[in-house]
Amino acid sequence: MAVVVSAIPLGSPHLERFADWALAVVDFDRATTTELADALRDAEGLLVNSHVALDESTLELAPRLRAISTVSAGFDHIDLAVARRRSITVTTTPVLSDAVADLTLALIIMTARRFGVATSDLARGVWNDRLLGTDVRGKRLLIVGFGRIGREVAARALACKMTVCAFDLRTDLPEMPGVELVPTLADGLEQADVVSLHVDLNPTTRHLLDDAAFAAMKPTAVVINTSRGGVVDQGALTRALVERRIGGAGLDVLETEPPDPSDPLLRLPNVVVLPHIGSATTETRRAMLDCAIDNLVACMRGDVCEHALPIPSSQPVG
Ligand code: DGY
Repeated sequence: MAVVVSAIPLGSPHLERFADWALAVVDFDRATTTELADALRDAEGLLVNSHVALDESTLELAPRLRAISTVSAGFDHIDLAVARRRSITVTTTPVLSDAVADLTLALIIMTARRFGVATSDLARGVWNDRLLGTDVRGKRLLIVGFGRIGREVAARALACKMTVCAFDLRTDLPEMPGVELVPTLADGLEQADVVSLHVDLNPTTRHLLDDAAFAAMKPTAVVINTSRGGVVDQGALTRALVERRIGGAGLDVLETEPPDPSDPLLRLPNVVVLPHIGSATTETRRAMLDCAIDNLVACMRGDVCEHALPIPSSQPVG
């Protein structure tokens, strides 16, 4: 009987979906290398989430692996080069676009209206009713990565009467009424009041926003990141914010999660930081787990899985 290993404890009805295979649940955080090696030796299928790093050495422990199903839209925790070399199918759960887009819009409004300052003032007993923010209406939003999530963000921003433009490396994307596609990232950055990131993390997008990018932005521009922390050079971002070379940031993701509690970025007045909760709603997380299990079952049966990554992949998160 083929073995499936899950890094996620499963209950009914998910357990029943694996009745044809021997299922083992393994806590990757706590398992020793020997325990991990024992558990993965015969594994043909693997169910993980974005907290489980599947690097080359971990994947070597699973020589029979055929499929990895991750309960996430992002896949930077998986060594795709190894997966490609070994013909391991990698599947994701791109069913979180609304939840992430809602949170993105919330960050745009929170930073524009300075809700972070308002709530932290209140927490220390200050009733700061003189606090002034800015309207989002009429502001120019640059969406970087115009995939599923980027498009949902665009729809919400248009409803808030923002001017929306988008940049994506792919040139074959369908147009969206009301959204101008900009030819280069540099063009978009110079004009934007808000820059929102919706790309996956890969060698081309690592530190996409760096010192040079911040220097190109308006001094009032706000950076929103709900994709992956590594897309932004966090040191450069902190410097740009401290020196007021940009206006603010709304971040759901950081380069290191959880961050060092003494990181000054967490305490800047023009920054709102959330603990990577873009997809964290009951409904969305349930849909993601359902989707990941469908994906893994399809792969184990040898069926085509619509959420299998094309490898090599450069698709945006979502
Ligand atoms: C995702 O699905 O990629 C979310 O960011 C959670 O990791």
